[in-house]
Amino acid sequence: MISNRKIEHVRIIANENVQHDHNYWNDIEIVQKSMPEVNLDDIDISLEFYGIRLKAPIIISSMTGGHPETKKINENLAIAAAEKGIGMGVGSERAAIEHPELGDTFSIVSEYDVPLRIANIGAPQLIDQRKPALTDENIEYAIQLIKAHFLAVHFNFVQEMIQPEGDTNGYGVYSRLESIAKKFNIIAKETGAGFSKTDIINFKKIGIKAIDVGGRSGTSFSAVEAYRRNSDSNIDTSTLFWNWGIPSPISVKYSSGILPTIASGGIRSGVDVFKGLILGAKMAGSASPFLKAALVSDREVVKLIEQFERQLKIVMLLTGCRNLEDIRNVRYVITGRLSEWWSQY
Ligand SMILES: Cc1cc2nc3c(=O)[nH]c(=O)nc-3n(C[C@H](O)[C@H](O)[C@H](O)COP(=O)(O)O)c2cc1C
Repeated sequence: MISNRKIEHVRIIANENVQHDHNYWNDIEIVQKSMPEVNLDDIDISLEFYGIRLKAPIIISSMTGGHPETKKINENLAIAAAEKGIGMGVGSERAAIEHPELGDTFSIVSEYDVPLRIANIGAPQLIDQRKPALTDENIEYAIQLIKAHFLAVHFNFVQEMIQPEGDTNGYGVYSRLESIAKKFNIIAKETGAGFSKTDIINFKKIGIKAIDVGGRSGTSFSAVEAYRRNSDSNIDTSTLFWNWGIPSPISVKYSSGILPTIASGGIRSGVDVFKGLILGAKMAGSASPFLKAALVSDREVVKLIEQFERQLKIVMLLTGCRNLEDIRNVRYVITGRLSEWWSQY
């Protein structure tokens, strides 16, 4: 039977407020220059990521596939990502591994010239749960399905603990991850709760190639599960964990000194992309705003990418940056709740 979970997530995230209560990116304030000595037309936002040329440091984060209705969403995202020369991920490919007839809801992405394609599986599925662990062949299939350059292994234990059908065994993930990291190019990815410094050091030790921090500041999957909560269940933990996790900027601060980092979780504008890059990220990823655009059309996704690019260039001009390397020298001030995390962790 095809799971409806994927389409339920899409509908809830598109229609309900499932954001964390506080977006910590708003606590970073940027020191501007009134005399920037830069021409907007000369600003270069292109970059290279592991030898792949990208036109902007923006990624459409992993979201969907696995239900017939999600194919068009992935296609709209892929058309726009190809046109604008940026990277994108697909959602967990477990559904296609279990039901190959759903493969086209993911493989549609490989029909467009997206310069950086990221496959996706869940860390909990690396070990036996109620269902047996994914095999290396299953993982190879997920990568080939979208002709991916990287495989994101997503960590979503908060969500797994809360959802009625969740995979609740966390023991043994690290050693399996170590084994598959020898075979595949892996990005360790959180989904809204952020990685700790220890997590990131441990990832580096076993040859993980990059980190997508997926921190707390934007979409909260505990909140999503609160809307999905089975009324038969008499244990409600979902709202309790709505605001669980490490703020995205804190994860980026640590991760970027250790591995190439994608800033994500609550990235809502080109200014947020800039803030991620100030803290050392190579790129920034955004999910739910792109879902909403993709539900409209591919043109709407292109428009959103162009808006992010324009906002990024404006703030680069206002801080005297000609290229992405210059951003590292920009001064900033940490305010509000973020300053407490900044000083204590
Ligand atoms: C509809 C939707 C589905 C998602 N599904 C996945 C998934 O299958 N795998 C994954 O790694 N992350 C998934 N995510 C998490 C996002 O990649 C991202 O880490 C998270 O939403 C935080 O980013 P945001 O605040 O910009 O939305 C999903 C997000 C959305 C909005």
